[in-house]
Amino acid sequence: MTDRVLIFDTTLRDGEQSPGASMDRDQKLTLAKQLARLRVDVIEAGFPISSPGDFDAVKEIAETVHGPIIAGLARAREADIDAAWRAVQNAGRPRVHTFVGTSDIHVKYQLRKTHEEVLRMAVEAVECAKARCADVEFSPMDATRTDRQYLVDVVTGTIAAGATTVNIPDTVGYATPWEMLDLITFLRENVPGMDGIIISVHCHDDLGLSTANSLAAVRAGARQVECAVNGLGERAGNASLEEIVMALRTRKDSFGVEVGTETAELMRTSRMVSSFSGFLVAPNKAIVGDNAFSHESGIHADGVIKERTTFEIMDPQDVGISESAITLGPRSGRAALKKRLEDLGYPVEEPAKLDSIYERFLALADRKKQVHDEDLATLMQLDGAASAGTYRIESLHVAAGTTQPTASVTLDCDGERLQGSGVGNGPVEAICSAIDAATGLNGTLEDFSVHAVTRGRDAIAQARIRLVMEGREAIGRGADVDTMLASAKAYLNGVNKLIVAERKARVDEL
Ligand code: KIV
Ligand code: ZN
Repeated sequence: MTDRVLIFDTTLRDGEQSPGASMDRDQKLTLAKQLARLRVDVIEAGFPISSPGDFDAVKEIAETVHGPIIAGLARAREADIDAAWRAVQNAGRPRVHTFVGTSDIHVKYQLRKTHEEVLRMAVEAVECAKARCADVEFSPMDATRTDRQYLVDVVTGTIAAGATTVNIPDTVGYATPWEMLDLITFLRENVPGMDGIIISVHCHDDLGLSTANSLAAVRAGARQVECAVNGLGERAGNASLEEIVMALRTRKDSFGVEVGTETAELMRTSRMVSSFSGFLVAPNKAIVGDNAFSHESGIHADGVIKERTTFEIMDPQDVGISESAITLGPRSGRAALKKRLEDLGYPVEEPAKLDSIYERFLALADRKKQVHDEDLATLMQLDGAASAGTYRIESLHVAAGTTQPTASVTLDCDGERLQGSGVGNGPVEAICSAIDAATGLNGTLEDFSVHAVTRGRDAIAQARIRLVMEGREAIGRGADVDTMLASAKAYLNGVNKLIVAERKARVDEL
């Protein structure tokens, strides 16, 4: 058995399925490129049949992101498999990942079929995928609650049909680590032909056991782990990629396996996922939380100063935390900005695009004086978010404090100036009312959060809103050194997205 564990990243598929975490096409592409820099082995880029947008995003990733295997997910149906194949076929290394539920509960209640019918569906799905793609992964969904003998039959049948990877999902996060270890051992001992294929696991975190369960499976011989950056995923999420990778690496003495991940990219990837998904990382989150490497207690701090390993089992630099030695400022030129952006994973080739980013960088540098890597990443991640679309903020004035908050705003709409003012219980509500008054639209703010990207008084604030208008929903994002302006940009970003969605729906109806 190989001692290499493949890291299968499903942030763009299972992760993106988390309610409210949806990413747009540019964000998906940027993240896929970052995952390639992180050197994950497989990127599950999406579920191509689920929407034309997802299909296009998977296709674009397959055509432009090089290095990792690019997988597309498909239910055990020909139309799904065909869409997944069409989306990934131009990848350097394409994979079709097909699945069907196999537990009694899924067979009886979800699929409303007999076990024999589901077994046939699984085998035919793999045959259908194999006729198109050499690399086929099969998942018996809810495997950990599936009858063991039936699971052996399904896995045996799908391997005979050509599956090259068999993934054992703990779909509902129900298993314990010792059950996972036992299940993988049982399958290895009872499925003929199992030695020639990769056993994978895909553990959800409903009981907070996803990392432990995945690692127990590795201990039993699993050689692919499906996981997501920051543990993003359905419900409580998936096993967290950074935890899996750093556990396997830090405790190589215990696991005896290798991972190919470029761990110094972990922090950057985590921040990108947090920014794109709007899901903040808890300060005490293992590996990538703000406090994961900070020491508060005097005894700990003293120990680390004398000898880092007294209280640190990992070197912060190994996960990409370093005191950013390089900061840019108002006097930094285009070339310095271009080089730094390249180093951070945001190459800018087009001179016109560089000009526009440089302009926004200078505006930021004028206000902040020192621009850190995190600021630049935010600038790039929200590139165009605040300015793209129908409306753009020209000016904003907010008054708040012990009096009733009020706001007035001037917007630019294709050269026309629109003004509005509003009041609210708080300044954010006042801003939203002012924007509504200027646009004549009426949005409902369902969710609002704001957080500082860097430390210090002049940190960039990143705001995220969930906005609903006439039954449509959008996530808006905005960033600025001024928290109120960041909030206004986020609201307007949401409004602009809803307008685009509305126009698209009208065109589709024609
Ligand atoms: O949780 C799950 O079972 C899945 C499958 C599609 C692998 O996401
Ligand atoms: Zn899942």
